[in-house]
Amino acid sequence: MSANPRIAFFDGIADRWDGWVDLGALGPRLAAGLVALGVGRDEAVLDVGCGTGNLSAALLGHLSPRGRVVAVDISARMIEVARGKVRDARVAWHAADARALPLGDASCDRAICYSVWPHFDDPAAVARELARVLVPGGRLHVWHTDPRERINGIHAGAGEAVRGDVLPPADATAALLARAGYVVSAAAEDGEGYLVTARKPGGQGA
Ligand SMILES: C[S@@+](CC[C@H](N)C(=O)[O-])C[C@H]1O[C@@H](n2cnc3c(N)ncnc32)[C@H](O)[C@@H]1O
Repeated sequence: MSANPRIAFFDGIADRWDGWVDLGALGPRLAAGLVALGVGRDEAVLDVGCGTGNLSAALLGHLSPRGRVVAVDISARMIEVARGKVRDARVAWHAADARALPLGDASCDRAICYSVWPHFDDPAAVARELARVLVPGGRLHVWHTDPRERINGIHAGAGEAVRGDVLPPADATAALLARAGYVVSAAAEDGEGYLVTARKPGGQGA
């Protein structure tokens, strides 16, 4: 299998990424979002495509001392940048593809794909891999804090490696997750953002 061209692309922009983000606004927005998602304080939360660690940092502010973050990114340079700024023993960092996670079965309570879903070549395969590492009843969120049209417009004008990366309508992502065996509980998008929430069957509330 040939190397994913997004690895070199995201390695190449990792050192500049935070300069393009309004971190002062993003932190509180992510923190409020985690409350709205119902993230439990003691959970083990998988941050898929963690980038420079901004969601991981928000998670650490939200979780109790018993909570854990498992942060995964295909770009080793993104992970290096994240490790340099987010220093907390509750995080485990992994340079890995979301399709083949170096994690045990049923090892995470929740998975959050924040600003990464359009970059998956095979989102159904990722959904199945996330179901493997989620506990029965564990939640998966596909989340963006920008509207879909804006995200797709940015990708269309970006480097070749991501130019074809398209975020589908929330309903289409919900249907994909349902076909992958999840129970979808919410799928919505508007001018503020995009959120699809689904649950792996089993566990409490099955
Ligand atoms: C648009 S950036 C967003 C980063 C971070 N979630 C944030 O919002 O700041 C997308 C990230 O997903 C990562 N990524 C892309 N494809 C991936 C894959 N197949 N597995 C894991 N990470 C991936 C990229 O390396 C990049 O860091």
